[in-house]
Amino acid sequence: MSKVVIRKVKQNDMSAIYEIEEDTFSEDYPRFLLDFLARKYSKTFLVADENEKVIGYAVASIEGNNTGHLISIAVKKSHQKKGVGLILTLEIFKALEKFGVSHVKLEVRKSNRVAQDFYKKLGFQLKSISKGYYGSEDAYVFTRSI
Ligand SMILES: CC(C)(COP(=O)(O)OP(=O)(O)OC[C@H]1O[C@@H](n2cnc3c(N)ncnc32)[C@H](O)[C@@H]1OP(=O)(O)O)[C@@H](O)C(=O)NCCC(=O)NCCS
Repeated sequence: MSKVVIRKVKQNDMSAIYEIEEDTFSEDYPRFLLDFLARKYSKTFLVADENEKVIGYAVASIEGNNTGHLISIAVKKSHQKKGVGLILTLEIFKALEKFGVSHVKLEVRKSNRVAQDFYKKLGFQLKSISKGYYGSEDAYVFTRSI
């Protein structure tokens, strides 16, 4: 893998982001929602760029005074397990810190063991279970201080 740069999202990244979303999630976010997130959270919507190709993205929001919410993260299948998710998340923490965020929370499907292992490796801890968060499926809520 060549050098990967983490940077803020740009308008012309969106088609690559839709593709990653469709490649990685069985129930992917609709395009309009990704567009909305990129506009609303432009400072905390980051992409991993390898040779000017987007290979991953992560987006977070800020809730209240000091809580960040990791809304979504995905790395292109062909580029997974190479540390890209890790650096994207660490850069998201840095971006959130600029807004005074000291805690990050996220939800993950009960069935998504890979993501749970990923978050645990990053030091997130299980805080609670959100019943029916994904309709027919519960979510684990993980939190971490930054
Ligand atoms: C979760 C995801 C973003 C991780 O991205 P990634 O770039 O593959 O992760 P990294 O290579 O940075 O992995 C960091 C650590 O997470 C854990 N991890 C990552 N993938 C794993 C897997 N398939 N199985 C077990 N542990 C895994 C490991 O501890 C890994 O550290 P190690 O390589 O030293 O063992 C990626 O698997 C993905 O896009 N999944 C589909 C979308 C998704 O489920 N997003 C989360 C929704 S809540």
